[in-house]
Amino acid sequence: MMIAKGLKDVVAAETRISHIDGEQGKLIYRGYDIGYLTANHSFEETVFLLWNGKLPSASEAMELNKALAKNRALTPAMKAVMNALPKQLDLMSVIRAAILTETPGKARQTPTIDQAVRLTAVLPTIIAYWQNSTCGRTAKEPEEAFTHIENYLYMMNGERPAKAQVDALETYMILTLEHGMNASTFSARVTASTESDMISAITSAIGTMKGPLHGGAPSGVIELLNEVEMPEKAEQVIRKKLTAGERLMGFGHRIYKTHDPRADALKQKLLQLRGKDSWLDLAVHVEKVAVDVLHELKPGRSLYTNVEFYAAAIMKSIDLASELFTPTFTAARIVGWTAHVLEQAKDNTIYRPQSQYIGDFKEV
Ligand code: ACO
Repeated sequence: MMIAKGLKDVVAAETRISHIDGEQGKLIYRGYDIGYLTANHSFEETVFLLWNGKLPSASEAMELNKALAKNRALTPAMKAVMNALPKQLDLMSVIRAAILTETPGKARQTPTIDQAVRLTAVLPTIIAYWQNSTCGRTAKEPEEAFTHIENYLYMMNGERPAKAQVDALETYMILTLEHGMNASTFSARVTASTESDMISAITSAIGTMKGPLHGGAPSGVIELLNEVEMPEKAEQVIRKKLTAGERLMGFGHRIYKTHDPRADALKQKLLQLRGKDSWLDLAVHVEKVAVDVLHELKPGRSLYTNVEFYAAAIMKSIDLASELFTPTFTAARIVGWTAHVLEQAKDNTIYRPQSQYIGDFKEV
């Protein structure tokens, strides 16, 4: 029996949602290159594309904007659950607990696009509510007149964000909406394949997203940059980590064997946003040194920055605290997860791979 550890190179489903060309460094949503989408379409329009398979007309876009704005409010049950949780809990676990309150009743419920709208709309409110309350503040109520991204920053910081901040976060969130059969999306599809409900599929995905090898990497990037501290120390810190067998957070990818196009796009956005500054110079320097040292110490592995490296930098630039990095990634990826759950439900086969037993057989 051939074993594909980590399901490397195994194709487990057909999808129309996105395509990744790991050799060319390209990412396509529903036929459109992500570069085209970030330059020409809003977050909401790209969300419509992922869920519906086509870009929206003006009236369809307006309808989705309205539906997202109307679905932002927390329910009393969500607030009660969050108020009862221990304050030291991580935000990913908080999101999971809060959305559990929307689990449908006992009757089997096929996942719907309305649930996708509700989850996408409410996640930023959950994040802002928790983050503010753990800092002893009250988050602003959602503002229906604002766009999805504008409203997220407004609820988080209590004031209308600058256009440059909204642009930067919007680019980041469009670039990370969806990424094929990554670990969290796979988790969501596995749960959906048992004919379980949308909320159960999404809570599976959230648990998977949290790990440091997946959505938890950006905080590790900031730790790396803080440890390097100044360009002169970069090579020494990086060599020390790699010779100790550690992984560099924000580098390497299962599919991309060249530059991750999302990392390149975020780097460009960041250069526009910050201009020249010492912190960004440090990130660019660390990238260069790390890629050189990785090529020397891990020859033939094609290790470059992944989306998390510049994601961390962009979120730091718009003053999001590091505990918000993975939840903010989640607030974007919820769109891809829900699109996959809907796709799985349409043409379902339960996932059930096999394992090879390598234990003993006891004579009794
Ligand atoms: N630092 C150092 N070495 C690395 C790194 C890294 N970041 N990534 C891979 N390698 C090395 C491995 O040690 C291994 O070397 P070996 O063959 O000498 O043992 C080789 O490259 C292949 O590694 P695999 O683990 O087989 O690669 P895989 O495709 O399974 O891993 C992963 C992909 C998990 C992303 C990995 O590159 C990694 O751990 N990166 C750091 C964490 C990170 O940034 N995660 C975010 C990914 S993007 C996202 O999830 C949104």
